[in-house]
Amino acid sequence: MTPLLEIRSLSVDYGYGAVIRDLSITVSAGEIVGLVGESGCGKTTLGWSVLGLLPRSARVDGSILFDGTELIGLQARKRRKLLGVRLSLIPQAAMASLDPMFTVGHQIREIILTHQRGGRAGADARTVGRLREVGVAAPEARLRAFPHELSGGTRQRVATAAAMILNPSMLIADEPTSSLDVTIQAQVLGVLRSVILEHGTAVMFITHDLGVVAQISDRIAVMYAGEIVEEASAQELFEDPKHPYTKKLLAAHPGFSNKGQRLATIPGSVPDPAQRPGGCSFEPRCPVAIPLCQEDRPPWVAVESDRHVRCVHCAPNH
Ligand SMILES: Nc1ncnc2c1ncn2[C@@H]1O[C@H](COP(=O)(O)OP(=O)(O)OP(=O)(O)O)[C@@H](O)[C@H]1O
Ligand code: SF4
Ligand SMILES: [Mg+2]
Repeated sequence: MTPLLEIRSLSVDYGYGAVIRDLSITVSAGEIVGLVGESGCGKTTLGWSVLGLLPRSARVDGSILFDGTELIGLQARKRRKLLGVRLSLIPQAAMASLDPMFTVGHQIREIILTHQRGGRAGADARTVGRLREVGVAAPEARLRAFPHELSGGTRQRVATAAAMILNPSMLIADEPTSSLDVTIQAQVLGVLRSVILEHGTAVMFITHDLGVVAQISDRIAVMYAGEIVEEASAQELFEDPKHPYTKKLLAAHPGFSNKGQRLATIPGSVPDPAQRPGGCSFEPRCPVAIPLCQEDRPPWVAVESDRHVRCVHCAPNH
């Protein structure tokens, strides 16, 4: 099946070294792909590359095909026709996507009427339906509310409704629940997953939280220092992680380590893009590194038909 989103050999450099390095990933129609990694590993940069939101000074190489259209270098006019319509963003902070000066009803109506014909009443009825679907209480009254009058959880639901209002085929969700407390986070995630499944929307779900990614994803890509180091179905990744970084991440996560056991931490930090090691980016922190890891970038190995790992220990001739 042809993927809906196909990123090939993407590199992004803000001017001091590759923040994304030769990264490839695909998302099929209706698939939820979780992208997980520590702060600073380039998750937002990847999402923004797809959406064309990077600063003009950023150097972008490679290819990003969305439903057959190359997004890198796409004319602004064509991009405007795509964004919010076929390809949409739920950002990390809902406040950032909602304009504090306008009511919820006004903002979502504007999205509808900018891209589709129709009148105010029809747009508002549609907005109310979508707000109800994402679990906003008393949606008719919420149309007249300003963003600052809503709780964090309701704002995030409104941002989700706005992103989904034109039934996009794909969503980029960048840490959509990380600003919420754990109980609200679980509720919002549950709603998000059911709305996504109901509409068959493909999602690239970005998070630093393994628990969140486990709850929502069909497939998971683990990112480290601007590269994907392991890709597997959610079940395979949690049952049998292959990459030393994935193993460390799982051990460090309270929900996935044995009860009563001390939590593992990963000593060291993600390398600065300007000072990336020559071989494997994880080598300075890797407990099973061998001399070869300092020299060559490890290969991207298919360990099973739909499972890949970037580690010398997984290479067939190792
Ligand atoms: N506009 C920019 N100009 C220069 N450097 C940037 C810019 N945006 C991000 N960076 C740098 O690129 C790297 C990746 O940042 P990015 O925000 O993509 O990471 P992230 O994985 O989304 O992190 P977080 O989990 O904290 O959101 C970091 O080193 C960051 O400092
Ligand atoms: S390639 Fe080497 S340094 Fe990198 S993760 Fe594998 S063993 Fe560790
Ligand atoms: Mg980010």
